[in-house]
Amino acid sequence: MEGRAASTTFATPLTRHAGIEVPLICGAMYPCSNPELVGAVSEAGGIGIVQPISLTYVHGYAFREGLRLIRRLTTKPIGMNALIEQSSRYYRRRMEEWIEVALEEGVRFFVTSLGNPKWVVERVTPVGGVVYHDVTERKWAEKGRDGGVKGLIAVNRRAGGHAGPKDPQALLDELANLGLPLVCAGGIGDADGFVGALRMGYAGAQLGTRFIATVECRAGDAYKRAIVEAAEDDIVLTERITGVPVAVIRTPYIDRLGLRAGVVARWMLQHRRGKHLMRTIYALRSLWQFKRSLHDETGRREYWQAGRSVRDIREILPAGEIVRRFADAARDLTVF
Ligand SMILES: Cc1cc2nc3c(=O)[nH]c(=O)nc-3n(C[C@H](O)[C@H](O)[C@H](O)COP(=O)(O)O)c2cc1C
Repeated sequence: MEGRAASTTFATPLTRHAGIEVPLICGAMYPCSNPELVGAVSEAGGIGIVQPISLTYVHGYAFREGLRLIRRLTTKPIGMNALIEQSSRYYRRRMEEWIEVALEEGVRFFVTSLGNPKWVVERVTPVGGVVYHDVTERKWAEKGRDGGVKGLIAVNRRAGGHAGPKDPQALLDELANLGLPLVCAGGIGDADGFVGALRMGYAGAQLGTRFIATVECRAGDAYKRAIVEAAEDDIVLTERITGVPVAVIRTPYIDRLGLRAGVVARWMLQHRRGKHLMRTIYALRSLWQFKRSLHDETGRREYWQAGRSVRDIREILPAGEIVRRFADAARDLTVF
């Protein structure tokens, strides 16, 4: 792989836990995480997170084969995203299998989201694995801490994907006394934003949107260009895709659809049984729709997920270059 790795003069609990040089995570992204992107971020000294459904369903690799491809791109640590929502027994079994394969292939850093991470902690800790848990507020963070996670990824209101309700400082204040390292997720598009998060007291940052507008990401050019051209105000939250608000770039297509879930869907989401069914329908439909829109150049299906960090993203760059620029900007920080 091309380019030098970044070297830092600082370490944080995240760099120690993940065994990396720069406290920077390329977050899991359905459908945007592809092996080349994950490998490039890790090779440059950050850590790329594999999204198993993206790897297998969107990019077409058998899970182990995809991990081995990344291994050919870098020998440095990579992570895996375990979405642990209790939506179905089939899905839970699938996730357990993927974790086993990841462990066999040497993955030791896991990012859990959406449920109780305890079973993942219990499985991976005895073999040297570390779990960081995505949270948007304190009650989920406490659940994660009680489940034994080693760190929390604080997803704020500026994030791409399923954003949280709080701003980065409020979330930091709310989670600060839990005794776990906190990683800032949301709204960071350039090196200044990264340094700002570290200065605030975060142990690192998890970025999504910035890494879509990279050479290695296999998203289509129209999607990447839309990120580079969008302003912060172009980001809207829509319930139409997954039933819960997702940050997307406002396009004529999104305008036509409207932002709120339909009447029937809303009614079902309010009832316990209906909610389960509706979530499953939404999950399957959104997997397909996001996959379809990844390479769309026709302008007919512009379902482009992105967060408010678009404000600071002005060019498509190699992923490793982003890691190196961030590391250079943070080099002289002595906060840790
Ligand atoms: C297109 C896209 C897809 C995402 N998919 C996932 C996912 O599958 N699992 C997950 O835990 N987080 C997901 N996220 C959240 C990211 O991992 C990360 O926390 C977030 O993008 C950080 O905010 P930023 O986009 O402002 O950098 C996604 C984000 C984006 C932009």
